[in-house]
Amino acid sequence: MSISKITIAVDGYAACGKSTLAKSLAKSLDYIYVDSGAMYRAVTLYFLDNNIDINNSLHVEQAIKNIKIHFKNINNNNYTFLNNVNVEDNIRTPQVSDFVSPVATISIVRKAMVRLQQLMGAQGGIVMDGRDIGTVVFKNAELKLFLTASLEERTRRRMLEWELKGIKNITAREVSSNLQKRDHIDSTREDSPLRKANDAIEIDNSDMTPEEQLAFSLDIVENVLRKTKINS
Ligand code: DC
Repeated sequence: MSISKITIAVDGYAACGKSTLAKSLAKSLDYIYVDSGAMYRAVTLYFLDNNIDINNSLHVEQAIKNIKIHFKNINNNNYTFLNNVNVEDNIRTPQVSDFVSPVATISIVRKAMVRLQQLMGAQGGIVMDGRDIGTVVFKNAELKLFLTASLEERTRRRMLEWELKGIKNITAREVSSNLQKRDHIDSTREDSPLRKANDAIEIDNSDMTPEEQLAFSLDIVENVLRKTKINS
């Protein structure tokens, strides 16, 4: 008997390898991968490009109605589309990174994104990474992972990521301060703050390679699948 595909939630602080893990888990399991942070980044890009005042809820509400987000997999790479334009590179700039956490505190924005995320995962067989996936979006996910890593390691990884994209005029101190600022806003906001779900498994990957973290997580998935099969 084949069992239905499960839902996997991956949450954690900024730049702690959530997307790397979620992407490789989805690939190994042949599941859909959704980067929920990319959705908040796309909204932020729209707000910046259209000078939306985030303190004006009428403007925010109208803007949200004008935003369409979808993902496309091209040659095994995942691309984010905002109103049918590929914005994958534009949503990863330091400018968007600086502004995204305040945008993600807005309830009107969160409500729209969560609805879309739940639609995307309605059939199961999905790995989604973010901040509130295990606590809000997929409260009943069969597997919830909560990633952590030291601030030094997260800063090093994000610097490397930006260097590879040709962004070099930014110091380690600036990157580290952006990560801390975002973590603070993300975990202290009123609407669905970042926190570990009670039933999530915490993984500190500071000293793990991406391959080690994947192997470790696949073992956990296998256990969950075995249990799901027994109980189904
Ligand atoms: O994963 P990321 O760094 O690309 O996420 C960008 C921001 O989006 C993050 O600072 C907080 C917000 N976010 C959120 O509030 N809820 C999610 N599920 C995913 C991201």
